[in-house]
Order: sequence, then structure tokens, then C-alpha cells
Amino acid sequence: MTVTIVGSQLGDEGKGGVVDIFGDAVDVVARYQGGDNAGHTVVHEGEEYKLSLVPSGAVRGKTGVLGNGCVVNPATLFEEIDALRERGLDPDVRVARRAHIIFPYHRVLDGIEEEAKSEDGEEVGTTGRGIGPTYEDKAGRRGIRAGDLVNEEVLREKLEYVVPQKRALAEDVFGVEVGEEFDVDALYEEYSEYAERLVEGDMLVDAGDFLAERLDAGEEVMFEGAQGTLIDIDHGNYPYVTSSNPTAGGAATGTGLGPGVVGDGDVVGIVKAYLTRVGSGPLPTELGGVEGDTPGYTQGEGRAEELATYIRDEGGEYGTVTGRPRRVGWLDLPMLRHSTRVNSFTGVVINHLDVLAGLDEVKVGRAYELDGEEIQTIPATTQRWADCEPVFETFDGWAEFDSEVVAEEGYEALPAEARAYVEYIEDELGVPAYALGVGPGREETVVRTNPFE
Ligand code: IMP
Repeated sequence: MTVTIVGSQLGDEGKGGVVDIFGDAVDVVARYQGGDNAGHTVVHEGEEYKLSLVPSGAVRGKTGVLGNGCVVNPATLFEEIDALRERGLDPDVRVARRAHIIFPYHRVLDGIEEEAKSEDGEEVGTTGRGIGPTYEDKAGRRGIRAGDLVNEEVLREKLEYVVPQKRALAEDVFGVEVGEEFDVDALYEEYSEYAERLVEGDMLVDAGDFLAERLDAGEEVMFEGAQGTLIDIDHGNYPYVTSSNPTAGGAATGTGLGPGVVGDGDVVGIVKAYLTRVGSGPLPTELGGVEGDTPGYTQGEGRAEELATYIRDEGGEYGTVTGRPRRVGWLDLPMLRHSTRVNSFTGVVINHLDVLAGLDEVKVGRAYELDGEEIQTIPATTQRWADCEPVFETFDGWAEFDSEVVAEEGYEALPAEARAYVEYIEDELGVPAYALGVGPGREETVVRTNPFE
């Protein structure tokens, strides 16, 4: 059977931890989109591992697969594998032959375009990993795939076609001088070495066949989504999105298994008990910007900023990949309704309930007001979304609690006010909370339903 883990908000909901919690029974963890823009921290036997590309299950001895929907930077891949090896692990990572490869020119172009957009304040705030330009080449049918790297002739031919175009784009369109990142011979040499390692390590697979065989053999497969629904290229707030489909449909197209396989299993939405965002774009329930600007906030001057800073620090809300401080807001139900529909969630996991403990009151944006009307879900355009004013529901805050005790004793040991908050979310979304994150550690989780059992 399969379980798909999807970020229900804007990324950074704590998906890696959930993969851990439900992952004991899992044999294979497959990523289906994104690349080294995803940051996750895994704690295993008291050791902390920070990964951005290798599926987090690989730390625990599971087979990790980077599906065809991923974009793979081999430099990052081998850096992460080598770092894990140095620490005594032996990660088993497979890469889909159909996965597209990130080249140094993609990263340079990512930076150039962000810089150009920033002149009008239009930058997306990307992670700068070359994700967008690589997916552009995939859609433009000029991409180079993992399977191409191992064929010397094909690799050289493709580089000779594409690299001069990229150089012209950088130099003639954007007026930026470029270097070795755009040199066919240098790229050919570097990437041929990666190809050797991929072959020597028997890492290349036809992902769909590989996963189907493992499922047929009775193994358990988890699809690990990166990023989140609101930064999905189709269902997120375009253009402030990543260039792939983190939503559950991506688990089918990005692995080579059909939607029936994904839909047959559970699809679990990971929800942070509040909201964070790195990068640009609207955030109607935002509590004071990183720079301290709080449009339309009425709780008293400085209060929203203080709260945002408090939650940011309590929750350690700084980017894993970039270290950027994350913007903070209250939970947004129109966003979660959109997410529940797009992904067909069978359940959710609500994380970081501990971070909100100790506040006098906790708010939830239960709807939006737009053009004098109350709406329940997110408008399709970013401009309309930015016009939405949140309609808040206010809850009594809950007292600080001992996370270990709650995790040990179970749901009823949570303060009544926290349970009221959880049950409100369950009712509004019409799906049960399978688990609740009550502390930063893997064991500080209340598991009510394990989808693999
Ligand atoms: P890109 O994926 O680097 O192209 O960045 C596009 C947008 O997605 C930016 O707003 C990023 O901040 C955001 N983003 C990409 N990866 C993550 C992630 O893992 N967590 C949160 N936001 C992300």
C-alpha cells in the first residue's frame, strides 16, 4: 500500500518528521517533485541530519527514490550521500532515468532572473537552486535527463545544443557576463563523472517499474511531497510558486504509478498550527512582516509584530535551505479547504501545537471578505487573493504543557483549549487529525491513526 505526504500550506509544515513517524513500516520513500530546494531535518538515533534532496527515509535505512518528477542536482546528491557515509550510514538512493538534471547554468539563470524581476519588486524569492529554469527546459523539450548523462554522445550533443542558447540568454538578453557554468567542455567533464558514479552505484532506475515491483512484492511505499499546495505551479498562488506539483496528483505523474495507486492509499495533509511563508506573495492572515509592516492589523500597535517574532523564535521559523526568517500568520482555513479538495486528503497531521502554547488567545482565519462578501476558499488570482481580508475566529489560548507527558499519555492529555482548536479544524475540513505534533522531537507526537496499520 501507499501513503502520500503533502504540505497543505506553503511548505515547511514539518513533513520530514511525519515521514519519520509513520515511516517505521515503510520500505521505500519516493520523492515525486522538486529538487534541492526542499530542506528537511531528520533526527535519527540522537544525530541530526540536514537534507535537501535525498529522501529523508534514506537516513533510516529505507530505499530512497527520486522520481521522474524531480529535478536532480548531482553535485548536491553526491555531497549529501558522501556526508551520510562519513557519518557511518549506507544510504540506498535511486534516481529515475526520466528525472531532469540541474546544471550550473540553471542556478546562474535563476539568480539573473530574480535580480531582473527585483528591479520592479517582482521577485519570487526562489531558493536560487535553479529549480525554475530546469523545469522550463523540461517543458521546452531541451532538458537533459538522468538517463542522458550515461550516454556520452547524447550528453555532448544535448549540451552543444542547449548551452549556447543559455549563454546568449544570459549575455545578450540580460547583459550578464558568464563563466565556466556555460562551458560545454567543463560541463561535459563534470557531469560524465557524476554519470560514472550513478552507474557504479547502480542508482539509475525506471521509477515506475521499480516502484511497481516493490509494491507487487508486498512492500510499503511512501510518497514524500516537498514544498506545499499553495506553492504548487497549478494550484498555488502563481507566480509566487515553485515550478512543480507538490499536490497529490504529482505523486502519480512524478513517479510513474497511476492515480489509482495513489488514491487507493491514504493522502495525508501536513498542517502547521499557524502559517509561515518564505518568499514573496500575499498572506492574508499575516502577523507583522519580517520588516515589521502589518497592513490592516487591529490588535494594537506593535502587538502583531511582537507575536510574529515570538512565534518565529519559538518555532525556529528560519529557512532550512536559505536561513531566511519566515513570515508568520494565523492558520488560514480558506487555504486549507482549497488544499483538502485539491489533494483529497484522507487525514491531516497538525504540527507545532506546542509553539502556540502560552498565548492568551489564538486566532484562525475562518473565511475571507472580498468585495463585501464572505468567501470560503481562495480566489484563483494572486491579485484577488491579496484583496482578501481575513475573517477571524478567536480561540482561548492553552497553557504550556509537558510535550513528553502528552505524547506518552495521548490526546486527552492535551489542554482542553488545544483539543477544541484541533476539533474545530477537523470539523471545518471534514477529515480526522491522524496525529498531532506537540514538540520538536520525533517522539513528541500524539499518533491517533497510523495510515500504514
Ligand atoms: P524555487 O522552488 O527555488 O523556485 O522557489 C520558488 C518559491 O517556492 C519561493 O517562494 C521559495 O521560497 C518557495 N520554496 C521552495 N522550496 C521551498 C520549501 O522547501 N519550503 C518553503 N518554501 C519553498
